[in-house]
Amino acid sequence: SRAERVEIFEVGPRDGLQNESRVLPVETRIALIRDLATAGLRTVEAGSFVSPRNLPQMAQTADVLAGLSSLAGQVDLPVLVPNARGFADALAAKARHIAVFAAASESFSRRNINRSIEESLDEYRPIVTEARAKGLTVRGYVSCVLGCPYEGRVAVSAVVSVATALAAMGCEEISLGDTIGVGTPDAARAMTAAVAREIGIERVAVHFHDTYGQALANVLACLELGVTVVDSSVAGLGGCPYAPGASGNLATEDLVYMLDGLGVETGVDLDRVAAAGRAVCTALGSAPRSRAGQALAAK
Ligand code: HMG
Ligand code: MG
Repeated sequence: SRAERVEIFEVGPRDGLQNESRVLPVETRIALIRDLATAGLRTVEAGSFVSPRNLPQMAQTADVLAGLSSLAGQVDLPVLVPNARGFADALAAKARHIAVFAAASESFSRRNINRSIEESLDEYRPIVTEARAKGLTVRGYVSCVLGCPYEGRVAVSAVVSVATALAAMGCEEISLGDTIGVGTPDAARAMTAAVAREIGIERVAVHFHDTYGQALANVLACLELGVTVVDSSVAGLGGCPYAPGASGNLATEDLVYMLDGLGVETGVDLDRVAAAGRAVCTALGSAPRSRAGQALAAK
């Protein structure tokens, strides 16, 4: 049954900005994260330690973390780590929360991180072990849980297999990513339930993209299972650089509006998060894609 409180895991400064053509300067990325913290978000994904040749938008994530040291203890600032090199960089930058990212589809895994699924899991295992031993928290992402841009249909069994492997190696939380936003509510709930049967619903987060306008409906379907962590991106920024045609993530403003209406507590102030969305869209020179954000701006 539906939880009384849901944690919103804000991914805009990472999943959002990594897909914007305009590369924002470090100070603007820091200002965005500060705005989101002020709005009441307690977990804000701050960037990633990946190849700057692949993703120039995420370069200088170490400088972003350094500029946010005063938020320590108040806001968790996870960063993505694709390999040992990224993990070393994250440790040097004093990250306390990391995320590794695998996929439920071989072709996507290959294009995204140049590894097979098995190779990526082998690469992550010692990283996760060391991170946990050092007291860091580790999230594991599974991409393409409801479809793959290259392979089409993805079997639920493939999602369950990768999610359980990540959980078994020590990832506390598993985020199930509909990378290209093709899922619909019954499929989203069935896939999420299958994973929850193996690792427990309390360890599951859901991560929907809004490509086909299904993200909120999918969240609602999964809330019925008792999901307590939902990923979203301020102003609906994002998409996926390795998933052609994927539009933005579920917008945080739209999610907060729905949860407020359902009486589910989040601790997030809708007007403040909408203001953060307007500010980052101005910096990006783009129009906000959040429906709630647009409605509030027109008031
Ligand atoms: P590779 O080419 O296999 O790596 O890339 P390599 O080890 O052969 O190294 C190649 C070069 O990259 C070398 O530099 C390395 O030093 C450098 P060179 O000697 O040629 O000058 N390098 C690095 N530089 C900085 N940081 C590093 C690093 N590693 C190697 N960590 C790699 C493998 C994973 C690095 C590459 O493919 C990559 O960076 N991919 C980007 C992946 C990514 O960030 N994707 C987006 C996030 S996933 C996502 O959005 C989905 C999600 O939101 C959930 C959902 O929606 O479903 C999470
Ligand atoms: Mg994503």
